[in-house]
Amino acid sequence: MSVSPALLIAVIAVTFIASRRRCVTPYPPSLPTWPFFGNFFSIPTRVPWKTYADWSKILHRDLISVWAFGQLTVVINSKKAAKELLERRSAKYSDRPFPPIIKLLGWDFGTGMLPYGDKWRTRRRLMHKHFHFNAALAYRPLQEAKVHDFLRHVHGDKWRFERYLRVAAADISLSISYGHGVGDPDEDRFVRAAEDSMAMLSGAVFPGAMVVNVFPFLRHLPEWLPGMGFQAYARRCKEITSDMINTPWDSVKQGMVDGTARPSMASTLISQMREPSAGEDTEDAAKDACVITYVAGADTTVAAVTGGVLALLLHPQVQRRAQKEIDTVVGRDRLPGYEDRQSLPYVEAVYREVLRWMIVAPLSLPHAAYEDDVYEGFFIPKGAQVIVNLWAMLHNPDEYPEPEVFKPERFLTYDGTLTDDDVKIVFGSGRRVCSGLHVADSTVWLLLVSTLAVFNIVPAKDEHGNEICAEVACTDGLVSHPLPFQCIFETRDNEAEVLLSQLKEAD
Ligand code: HEM
Repeated sequence: MSVSPALLIAVIAVTFIASRRRCVTPYPPSLPTWPFFGNFFSIPTRVPWKTYADWSKILHRDLISVWAFGQLTVVINSKKAAKELLERRSAKYSDRPFPPIIKLLGWDFGTGMLPYGDKWRTRRRLMHKHFHFNAALAYRPLQEAKVHDFLRHVHGDKWRFERYLRVAAADISLSISYGHGVGDPDEDRFVRAAEDSMAMLSGAVFPGAMVVNVFPFLRHLPEWLPGMGFQAYARRCKEITSDMINTPWDSVKQGMVDGTARPSMASTLISQMREPSAGEDTEDAAKDACVITYVAGADTTVAAVTGGVLALLLHPQVQRRAQKEIDTVVGRDRLPGYEDRQSLPYVEAVYREVLRWMIVAPLSLPHAAYEDDVYEGFFIPKGAQVIVNLWAMLHNPDEYPEPEVFKPERFLTYDGTLTDDDVKIVFGSGRRVCSGLHVADSTVWLLLVSTLAVFNIVPAKDEHGNEICAEVACTDGLVSHPLPFQCIFETRDNEAEVLLSQLKEAD
């Protein structure tokens, strides 16, 4: 076979140009690297978002590289770069990295983890149908009822708000997805399977957590070899994950046969599956959309509200000012509701500061570059993992002076109206923005404003009567929670007592 000289020259030229382009277009800067290991030894396991923000300052760049074993992770540390890459160039940055461990753990189902493609699109569309702004309005009566349950429970047991918050968050998401109410979360099979599965996922995906993410061929080696412990871990997680996906779905199916199923996303989707127009992937996609509603929605809501409780505990003056606003606008003879939201700017500022101060997903969910790209002279190759450092963006002292300080006033103008910064960036941006943001936003807001209306959050005391100090610190992982702290939800006064005693148990 003869090769035309012109073709040969063209191939050489293209290869040369491509290699030149790589030479002249550098990767985003990184700290000094070791041969082969890259920055592996400096990759932080505790609060990595702070370290990445520090590296970004040291390197004077909002986009930085982190190398490990030849793999590149690009970290975005500014809103400007996030807007340009994730929104304006969203077609190039809507992929997700898909480390081998995800499939091994059985987590290759949910919208949040899937690579950019048809499987993701089908699930994303289903989520959108059930959670876009207007669709989310339909859940408000349920949210109000469950938030009132939360108040009632805490009223009866003022030391354990975390427990009842977990119940409320699980109850809202499982009622929406399966019509399933939660009594005791520790005894609930759905809740336990989901919490166990998520904990195992969280422990397996951070950089450096699992050797198989760096050397995918290891998944083919026998389990008895040293270092192959991840295989048993993955098998166990896959079983729990399968239980988490299938058990509630099957129970709704059975309930529809018995006539006991309550209306839910699952029951709607199961009915639609019976229609002749339903496609092949329908049942799997529908199951996935339902389970992700709990998986993505419950723990994040708990983390956001717990951060808010901690902030309010440490700032009694913020509680007093918010309560004054609620008393003036809403009065003392009813609880605040969604209809009051526009009239409560200070409460809104508190809510925004809660989301900013202790960010629920400080590194968002990782994105990946879908094709080669160049940003401000730096090369981002196809396949590079792209981490979105929301913490760095919302703790940028140029935009948020004294970013560590909890200061709701930063969201108010001099005349008391709200600034344009709605901090919605905490829900991500671009095509992979949080599917549940409207429900999340309304649940977290309502939990905070309702709590403020009837309780004072005060420090717990030790056996000597001394106040127990709460520490401002958080956990690592995809979802970050404040470290456990103690406080008491004290009923504000007689008027609050009357309101609380009138609350009825939600169906
Ligand atoms: C305070 C509560 C919540 C916070 C802070 C939050 C935050 C986030 C963030 C940062 C992302 C990643 C966005 C990106 O990749 O750019 C995300 C993704 C996602 N969230 Fe939420 N979320 C919350 C609640 C919820 C709820 C209640 C639901 C479901 C009803 C939900 C469903 C999802 C889904 C399905 C994704 C994956 C989207 C995709 O990859 O296409 N989230 N969320």
